[in-house]
Amino acid sequence: MEAFFDTRPRVERPIRTTGLDGVQGVGALSAEACRACHPAIYDEWRSSIHSQAWIDPQLQGELEKSDNRWLCLSCHTPLLVQHDRWPRGLVDGDVERPIVSANPRFDPALREEGITCTACHLLGDRIGGPGIAQGQAPHPVAVDPRFRSGELCLSCHQASAIYEGKSFICVFDTGREWREGPYDDEGQTCVDCHMPPIERPVGLTGPPRQVRRHWWRGAGIPKIEGRYPPAEANVPGLGLSAEAQGAALSLTLSNANAGHLLPTGDPERWIQIDVTFTDASGGTVGSPFQHRIGQIWEWSTPPRKRSDNRLAPREVRRLSVAIPAGASQASIEASSHRISEDNAGYHGLDGYPRSVGTHHLEVALSPP
Ligand code: HEC
Ligand code: HEC
Ligand code: HEC
Ligand code: HEC
Ligand code: HEC
Repeated sequence: MEAFFDTRPRVERPIRTTGLDGVQGVGALSAEACRACHPAIYDEWRSSIHSQAWIDPQLQGELEKSDNRWLCLSCHTPLLVQHDRWPRGLVDGDVERPIVSANPRFDPALREEGITCTACHLLGDRIGGPGIAQGQAPHPVAVDPRFRSGELCLSCHQASAIYEGKSFICVFDTGREWREGPYDDEGQTCVDCHMPPIERPVGLTGPPRQVRRHWWRGAGIPKIEGRYPPAEANVPGLGLSAEAQGAALSLTLSNANAGHLLPTGDPERWIQIDVTFTDASGGTVGSPFQHRIGQIWEWSTPPRKRSDNRLAPREVRRLSVAIPAGASQASIEASSHRISEDNAGYHGLDGYPRSVGTHHLEVALSPP
């Protein structure tokens, strides 16, 4: 049965584990087992989107609508034991017509953990890491440079697959965007920005060492209210300033802080700048101005990218907005969006957090 996966590309292949008993000295594959000795890391991971990669309401909404769900699982629930069923083959090679069997080793509680600790840290029958332990770990440790280099992240964040005759594709290009930008050359990896350093013991005891937070905060939009890393876990990618220059308001936007395109990842995400003008009595004057930064796709067969005006790392973009007559104040707001109201409605996602405000500037305009 598992032989099927050997015929498939890496993005479709889940991680096979030797048994449900997990790693020697730990006894299970679950994050709950790691928690006993790494509670601070557990709490951070639990607030992260990685721990919600299965329970994500949007993923659940999308899975209901397609027979291609097995294609999604190698990144969202990477261990094979997290899958309730698995394909043995495909009817006519069609990825939407898998021949499935029940997985006798399926662990439902582990599936809830999404991208769990062992999805990243299991290396055969040992625990892989950056090489911090000093012989005190109760479990076997394997030092692997992929943890620091960002290479581990790329196994899911740099992946693409084209499915001929289908209206969906798999495009995660964050790794390439980073490689082509300045940060890779300067030695700054995904880990440097998304896992900020902190001094603390690796386990429950032992001397404090420089280790890393397990937060991976992105654009700042939670999946579930109250379960998201704090603001200090990352900064917004966008840089924004504004000043009046004669009859125009001059806006300077930049990808100040993201090591890849802004926004990156899911093609539906976008950033929006809204400008409104008011007069001395606070009433709105002129028409509001809006600028959208993102991609637009047409989900035809095959899918087509219609436009893409995302900001490359450190790219600066200047916009000029005419100031309407009578305006005495400009209000500029930037926000980050995950999904449009229409698409959220289509997936039945009422109350799903869809956006977050990131910047708010007020500019006083001198009277004419
Ligand atoms: C998405 C992948 C990923 C997941 C999931 C993950 N880790 Fe890590 N972990 C890393 C990376 C990358 C490093 C290396 C950080 C560094 O360079 O110091 C690391 C480092 C560590 C370290 C070494 C100390 C430190 O913080 O650097 C420990 C211990 C650890 N992880 C435990 C865990 C536990 C326990 C969980 C689950 C609660 C977990 N990890 C989940 C990627 C992951
Ligand atoms: C019984 C306690 C205990 C349990 C359970 C445990 N660990 Fe550890 N682990 C430790 C200790 C202690 C160290 C640090 C040892 C040292 O400083 O020499 C460590 C070190 C590590 C490291 C650092 C490796 C390196 O050198 O970079 C990683 C990664 C790690 N653990 C991950 C995990 C994961 C994932 C789990 C769950 C599958 C887990 N641990 C379960 C106690 C435990
Ligand atoms: C096993 C696959 C996998 C690995 C390895 C992995 N990620 Fe992810 N990552 C995902 C998935 C899947 C999501 C989105 C889950 C969702 O939204 O349902 C995600 C989401 C994220 C987010 C967005 C969080 C947000 O706020 O929306 C960031 C940032 C991120 N990952 C960074 C990293 C970094 C840095 C590494 C390497 C240390 C890494 N990831 C390793 C699969 C992975
Ligand atoms: C120089 C710092 C930096 C580096 C390097 C970096 N990132 Fe980011 N990343 C950010 C910032 C800042 C954001 C928040 C962007 C925003 O405001 O939308 C972000 C956002 C993300 C998101 C979330 C997208 C979203 O819309 O929520 C993902 C996923 C991500 N990064 C993955 C990665 C991966 C994978 C790498 C390595 C290939 C990486 N990042 C390298 C700073 C960085
Ligand atoms: C190659 C690994 C991979 C595969 C396969 C994959 N995903 Fe993801 N998925 C990711 C990563 C990485 C992210 C985070 C991207 C980001 O937000 O930057 C993500 C994010 C998501 C999100 C959250 C989007 C958002 O804006 O918050 C949903 C929903 C999702 N994936 C659904 C699916 C579905 C449905 C499938 C199968 C058709 C699938 N994924 C297959 C890696 C994968």
